Amino acid sequence: MAANTPNQNTNMAIIGKPLDRVDGHLKVTGIATFVAEFNQPNMAYAFPVRSTIAKGSITGFDLILAEKSGGVISILTHENAPRLQPFDPLEIKKTGGFLAENLIPLQDNKVHYFGQFIAVVLAETFEEARHAATLVKVSYAKEKADADLNEALLKSSVREGAQLNKGQASAIIETSNLKIEQTYTTPAQNHHPMEPHAAIAIWDGADKLTLYDSTQVIVGMRNITAYFFKLKPEDVRILCPYLGGGFGGKSPAAHNILAAMAGKKINRPVKLVITRQMMQTNVGRRSPTIQKVALACDLQGKLTVIRHQNSSYSNLTDFSEPVGIQTQVLYNAPVREITHQIAKLDMNAPTYMRAPGHAVGSFALESAIDEMAYELRMDPVQFRILNHASTDPVKKINFSSNHLLECFQIGVEKFGWASRKIQPRQTRNGQWLVGYGMATSVHHGVRRPATVRIQLSNDGMATVMTASQELGTGTYTILTQTAADALGIAVGKIKVLVGDSDLPPAPFAAGSSTTASVNPAVLAAGELLRCELMRIAIADPKSKLNGRNTKDISFADSKLYLSSDISISDSYKDIMRRNNRETMQASATATPGGAASGATVAPCGPSMDQDQNYDTHKYSFHSFGAHFVEVWVDEDLGTIRVKRVTTVQDIGRVMNEKTARSQVIGGVIFGIGAALMEETVFDNRWASPVTRTLADYHVPVNLDVPPIDVHFIGKPDPHISSIGSKGVGEVGIVGVSAAIANAVFNATGKRLRNLPFTPDKLF
Ligand code: MOS
Repeated sequence: MAANTPNQNTNMAIIGKPLDRVDGHLKVTGIATFVAEFNQPNMAYAFPVRSTIAKGSITGFDLILAEKSGGVISILTHENAPRLQPFDPLEIKKTGGFLAENLIPLQDNKVHYFGQFIAVVLAETFEEARHAATLVKVSYAKEKADADLNEALLKSSVREGAQLNKGQASAIIETSNLKIEQTYTTPAQNHHPMEPHAAIAIWDGADKLTLYDSTQVIVGMRNITAYFFKLKPEDVRILCPYLGGGFGGKSPAAHNILAAMAGKKINRPVKLVITRQMMQTNVGRRSPTIQKVALACDLQGKLTVIRHQNSSYSNLTDFSEPVGIQTQVLYNAPVREITHQIAKLDMNAPTYMRAPGHAVGSFALESAIDEMAYELRMDPVQFRILNHASTDPVKKINFSSNHLLECFQIGVEKFGWASRKIQPRQTRNGQWLVGYGMATSVHHGVRRPATVRIQLSNDGMATVMTASQELGTGTYTILTQTAADALGIAVGKIKVLVGDSDLPPAPFAAGSSTTASVNPAVLAAGELLRCELMRIAIADPKSKLNGRNTKDISFADSKLYLSSDISISDSYKDIMRRNNRETMQASATATPGGAASGATVAPCGPSMDQDQNYDTHKYSFHSFGAHFVEVWVDEDLGTIRVKRVTTVQDIGRVMNEKTARSQVIGGVIFGIGAALMEETVFDNRWASPVTRTLADYHVPVNLDVPPIDVHFIGKPDPHISSIGSKGVGEVGIVGVSAAIANAVFNATGKRLRNLPFTPDKLF
């Protein structure tokens, strides 16, 4: 405990503990209030009408029946909707916000994809709005829509994405004897968090807007909403205390703007909740991908070339799936070529989905690595170790930390990999063929600036405030833990406020960056508060610490005390009460690569410089891991059962053993879904998704999920921040579908290269 001084916080005692979620009880008892539950007096309900063509224009609406339908207040179409500030990518970039799809609804008669919002019915009840929406008649001038990725890739509209060493690999591949060249495909996948997207817009006059919005980007959403409606950012407030899941799908989307537009039109609060069916067409998806991987080796099994050629689609956004991303950091090879082709399809915009790029790119790369190992008759773990890149092979810089080899070693041991037979079809259990497979996971680590304000009250409570968001990943909980360590205050005396854009600015909850970004700011703000308390105590003749030196003082249990004599102490409450301080506040901005700034009270030591180690030119930041899976394959039916998973993750310091474990388990389950069932199927004639409910877009249920044994390396990353925690939200999904494919091959001798592995693909 003596390690804690007001200048330094080396004793992270609560950080790392498997603390139960501080919001867990509220959630399981239904007390936690989600966006759609903030009903307002005089609130109207909005139900969108969606286009039934994929491309063309609207030639007219017949609203007569719909307008006469019970409870209808108004119907907005492009003919009468408020005109917003036009979409200008440069201007929007300046706001610091973004829209997942570059399309503001109801501004013109153009249709860009099937299911586009083309009208919205406002009524007194949800049921009345939904019914009237079915009565809206639309006529169209229809054009032919592109929905087939293979066909679209042949067109001149194809553009190039990121390219690395294009064309450099083919000569060496052609002359290699030991090589594999294969094509892997992954389907379109859609977001299906438990909570569909929702918004409630409340206008206060014409120039103040409060928007309850289920978004993982509250500050960005505020900024673009202000832009579109020509408001001052400070006059827009986005509120989102809880999210029922996100993982990229809750990037700023059109329904929020539609709700605000409708509220403005009828001058009443408006609620708009996306239906499960709309999740398929209106909130982005992961693009299908076609990936060609070529690998060649020398006789010792060292990779001589890696080529990863990717195709995906994009539309109405600059975003495209960064499929080759893991191929830039895994494995040494003298020649490495990574290319991306992006076709235009007449579909809604693709967007971020858990571990963009990595999740699907690793399926191809890690399958191909397994195929190459079989060519060499080498154990796939051995093959990976032999070709391990201990420094970033493209950027030619060190990793900030990389314990992947240890992940392999622990995984091999915990899983019992040694009992695996290298040849396929060697293990059987009745009609089941049994196989073992493994794959590497990796996800980049990112930090962004974040500001945190902490308020201490003289009743002993501390409130931590930051405009971050709780996706359900544990943000409330780990911010509480960090504040407990930063202040030496019990967890139960700390309240965390996030999900309100009026709070000090924090980054969007994405890219597995929240923990690394926000927690250092909690430490910095906590340190400032301790300094302030210390200065007051030292100056106070009534304090036992009067006249002492800051460097001799430690803190714990809501007290400052003399490091050399714990009995010489003064409690935070007493210090504040004697000095008539009802509350005290401090805020600080933790800036990656720079000193903490924006301090509202004076620091008392040099530790505000703590995060200058974060330098992306010097270090390559990534979480790493390895998955080991056992599958059973029914030889008669082709059914695949994942029977157990062992996963070992190098995520730097583990902030909370329990929530981190849950993130990895969730990632693995997401990966099982991708491997075995998830697929958005389109009817290409209409460019329309036909998997419109959870009855046909399958996600794993309890019986699909085996025991998942999670291990962490737990070594703090010395460069990402003073806390040393890398990201954990996304790395867990990466490599899972390859590990399952590799296990299926080991079980059956059949190589599956097209996700998902439905029984028809097996035999
Ligand atoms: Mo994530 S796909 O960056 O929410």
